[in-house]
Amino acid sequence: MTDLNPNSEMDSLAADLTVVRDFLDRAEPPEELSSNEREALLAQTKELMAKKNAKLVAHYYTDPLVQDLAEDTDGFVGDSLEMARFGRDSNADVLIVAGVKFMGESAKILNPEKTVIMPTLEATCSLDIACPIDEFSAFCDANPERKVVVYANTSAAVKARSDWVVTSSIALEVVEHLMSKGEKILWAPDKHLGSYIQKTTGADMLLWNAACIVHEEFKSRGLGDMLQMYPDAAVLAHPESPSSVLEIADVVGSTTQIINAAKSVPNKEIIVATDKGIFHKLQQVAPDKNFIIAPTAGNDATCRSCAHCPWMAMNSLQSMLNSLVNTSNEIYVEPKLAQQAMVPLQRMLDFASKNRLQVKGKA
Ligand code: 13P
Ligand code: SF4
Repeated sequence: MTDLNPNSEMDSLAADLTVVRDFLDRAEPPEELSSNEREALLAQTKELMAKKNAKLVAHYYTDPLVQDLAEDTDGFVGDSLEMARFGRDSNADVLIVAGVKFMGESAKILNPEKTVIMPTLEATCSLDIACPIDEFSAFCDANPERKVVVYANTSAAVKARSDWVVTSSIALEVVEHLMSKGEKILWAPDKHLGSYIQKTTGADMLLWNAACIVHEEFKSRGLGDMLQMYPDAAVLAHPESPSSVLEIADVVGSTTQIINAAKSVPNKEIIVATDKGIFHKLQQVAPDKNFIIAPTAGNDATCRSCAHCPWMAMNSLQSMLNSLVNTSNEIYVEPKLAQQAMVPLQRMLDFASKNRLQVKGKA
């Protein structure tokens, strides 16, 4: 684990960016397409998907074109957990996962018999990068009395070392369940989500020190100023945002929970603190509402991660077609590791079904 003072957000942000800089430098945004190029790519991709019995599963943060393609071809758009569940329940031979690496890995772990490909294998996540297995394992070894609960945004190796995997949609319920059994928790890797769960449940939690480079950029001071301009607006925030932002929010929840709240809150104006890729779905489900992105520290011209994940952005139509043509960019998880990682993943799925928790991503 990083030796930074976890109470200093500025220090930890600087350190996390140092670790992720190499990865960020490789995260090239896709080229703009003309409408003819776009139509041609879509037609070719659809034809090949039908031929190979391939289904596309996409996260809400991906390009609207990719989300629409998934839905037009009987695929799926949702959160990380539901993307994996859709794959398991589908009779496709090939799953195309448009998201980031941990999502492809989860899909493969839950669907070992299927071919899982991604438009690019370079698309990763700052949380995954900042939780290397060796350091994480040492952290677990040093705290053997604690149940190890990890966020889905981790490598297969980190999942394999854990007792529970959770997504933001069921993290609170799982921690409450463990608390009711008197368990103490070791949590990794997102410190903001971890501290939100800790404050909400009162659980005894030891936190890893990592953050999402996108959500870390949302700033409470700017949000306060924005609320003066839109005093009747509701604020919906993803729990990967800093606690000062979450304290102002009316609703804190996963991407799916944000989408559901957008439909149910009476407010016409809604400020959203999460990746702006979600606006495509928000506008579909609540077309009469005005969605406003929460303010970030930087400006879009220079900030690589201002309200849009640079790795999610790498899932272009062109790269998807290329990987489909050659069935390249296949996700491989070493079978023994996959079996170990399957245990805490399956535990989460079983817990969700048993408690009838709403983990379905389709809004
Ligand atoms: P959800 O599981 O809420 O979709 O979040 C995934 C993610 O990476 C958020 O940054
Ligand atoms: Fe990871 Fe943040 Fe990107 Fe989500 S938005 S994939 S948490 S870097």
